[in-house]
Amino acid sequence: MITTGISITGCGSATPSVLLDNHGLSERVETSDEWITSRTGITQRRLADPDTSLSQLAIAAAQNAIAMAAIDPADIDLIILATSTADDLFGSASFIQYQLGATKAVAFDMTAACSGFVFGLVTASQFIRTGVYQNVLLIGADILSRWVDWSDRRTCILFGDGAGAVVLQADEHDRLLGFEIRSDGRQNQSLNLSYRPEPQEILTGITIGQGTYNPITMNGQEIYKFAVKKVPEVIEKALFRANLTVDQIDWLILHQANQRILNAVAERLNIPPKKVISNLAKYGNTSAASIPLALDEAVREGKIKPGDRIMISGFGAGLTWGAALFEWGR
Ligand code: ACO
Repeated sequence: MITTGISITGCGSATPSVLLDNHGLSERVETSDEWITSRTGITQRRLADPDTSLSQLAIAAAQNAIAMAAIDPADIDLIILATSTADDLFGSASFIQYQLGATKAVAFDMTAACSGFVFGLVTASQFIRTGVYQNVLLIGADILSRWVDWSDRRTCILFGDGAGAVVLQADEHDRLLGFEIRSDGRQNQSLNLSYRPEPQEILTGITIGQGTYNPITMNGQEIYKFAVKKVPEVIEKALFRANLTVDQIDWLILHQANQRILNAVAERLNIPPKKVISNLAKYGNTSAASIPLALDEAVREGKIKPGDRIMISGFGAGLTWGAALFEWGR
């Protein structure tokens, strides 16, 4: 019989060792610990040095998740790497597959910015639901420090680097209870890491663009308003699909962008602060890594227990946003 239920049986994370706190950042741009803490809740972030690759962080996080799930890497069918900052524009997932010894897995990168982990979870789950695959490794990893303008105090204070991973497995009992994912490109210009072509005439009359990427640009207030309005909507939709109510959620793990966003969303939904998981004070916004990083810490601290219902929700560039509700563990 084909099993098409989904369980999330392992998690793991990894962060680079370089630590930059708000006081250090105040020496670089005109800001203060007081401003950053009160506006965002962030007190420090981890940054990758030039020798640390995205793949290294992703592999370390994946190995922890694989160990917790107690599966053999050779049994993994699919690896999805959710990232906006791959080491290689052609994709880094296959290199990770090789390094993990996941010899039979097909592997690909997926980009949906800070919604990447939620979009990846939903994508991964479709392959299990259809009975095609049994064991899927999902990694969310980003090194946004490489693309931040370190002289722009409006953005450089927000981001940090890291990776998180989960293992999804086919199960008779379906623990993925509901989800909703959305995109709306109308506000695409509010948050970009865009290509900047430099015209090169390679032959008379034939000009192509060969350049690099601009640093991240963001309209912080627009993104803030968008998140506070749209995130509760998808959470309610995911709950509706699961036929559950908001008080039946044990934990809320939002994309760790800003403590004020976490508080405002929880307040709108009437979710008490003790159910809201937050570790952004230590890591800042780690983009696709932020949800699995927070999940992993809460599981390893013993906060999240098997059977607990967890609502996750990501939001960010695209614009993209989404929510998924699942029961933790086997
Ligand atoms: N230090 C000191 N002052 C600052 C700083 C800073 N680091 N940054 C901005 N300011 C100043 C501004 O210049 C402005 O001054 P002015 O009034 O004289 O012009 C004042 O502080 C207020 O600026 P705002 O932009 O209005 O500050 P706000 O309260 O909106 O906070 C923030 C800014 C933290 C960026 C907020 O808007 C936010 O968190 N937005 C959401 C960002 C986000 O969540 N992104 C997630 C997606 S990321 C992804 O997908 C990759």
